[in-house]
Amino acid sequence: MSAALKIEQFNLLDDDDCAARIRAAKKLLGSRLAILGHHYQRDEVFKHADFTGDSLKLSQLAAKTDAEFIVFCGVHFMAEVADIVTGGERKVILPDLAAGCSMADMANLVKVRKCWSEISQVIDPDDKITPVTYINSAADLKAFCGAHGGIVCTSSNARGVLEWSFSRREKVLFFPDQHLGRNTGHRMGIPLEQMVLWDFTKPMGGLTEEQIRQARIILWKGFCSVHQMFHPAHIEKFRREVPGGKVISHPENAFEVCEHSDYVGSTEYILRTVRAAEPGSHWLVGTELNLVNRLKDEMKPRGVTVQFMSPMVCMCSTMFRTDPQHLAWTLDNLITGQVVNRIQVPREIAVPARAALDLMLEVVD
Ligand code: 13P
Ligand code: SF4
Repeated sequence: MSAALKIEQFNLLDDDDCAARIRAAKKLLGSRLAILGHHYQRDEVFKHADFTGDSLKLSQLAAKTDAEFIVFCGVHFMAEVADIVTGGERKVILPDLAAGCSMADMANLVKVRKCWSEISQVIDPDDKITPVTYINSAADLKAFCGAHGGIVCTSSNARGVLEWSFSRREKVLFFPDQHLGRNTGHRMGIPLEQMVLWDFTKPMGGLTEEQIRQARIILWKGFCSVHQMFHPAHIEKFRREVPGGKVISHPENAFEVCEHSDYVGSTEYILRTVRAAEPGSHWLVGTELNLVNRLKDEMKPRGVTVQFMSPMVCMCSTMFRTDPQHLAWTLDNLITGQVVNRIQVPREIAVPARAALDLMLEVVD
């Protein structure tokens, strides 16, 4: 077997050269290869994806594919999920290993175990609390949920997952995204004061025993750096300037942004809703810029206008790490028989993590 090709050579290629190489490699690899692309990927990468979707759809597609190689144009936790749900039987590749998720990094196993043990000084968490991790988290946190009767959710199915969780135990520990947890809980009718914030930098999460006893949802103090750029003032300005316009936001946005929006849902939901909009309608969209720009171009010929919520350019910088150079590099290596940047979750983590993921896929379809 030849030595692996080096990324340095590919970094010198321009995007058009990379696109030609990617197309040629896809032809040669045929059905052995499936390229999955998240909606936040930049155009130069997104256009090569065989399948596109939100986190839920991509994990379902990964579980179904027969391809030998799954090249995941997304972020690290998504590639981990693909490896876990395929039982390690496919070779899952993340073109740039630095493509992480800053929100996922806001929770880790040490901190979550510490939280669980601190809560156990007040109530028995294994009796009273279902741990729910947003899919935007490391595999060992999914394993933690699997080992403690918990479950995974995405932004598409958070409500169904919370309903399932409350049917089993009276409280939920939700990590790492406070906003998805709060927004979902609020829409289920849970009062804000019964959703308390666990500040992992403080002893007992900065909460009193009484607050822990009263809480229905204990929210981890994590957030998405992209969605924190959107504010109610952006919505108010749009409503002043575009009377009758519609506002649609991702549930990773702050509570106030979601409250001021007409529709709230995952990236797939946002696309579905705007694509079904009346000609002549106007939309303000609160999610990542690459998705919004593509949607804007797509809807223009149908007479639907789409506007990005923030005046700032805010992209997901970690999603952005996957560029055509890295994609071409991974595919050209596959042609020479080299698998670079394979994501393999150790079995002792993958097995309990899969239990929590399979539950999610069963509980809410
Ligand atoms: P969805 O793809 O589930 O909408 O989530 C957006 C996101 O932030 C992915 O990391
Ligand atoms: Fe993570 Fe936010 Fe980027 Fe999604 S958009 S991958 S939550 S940092």
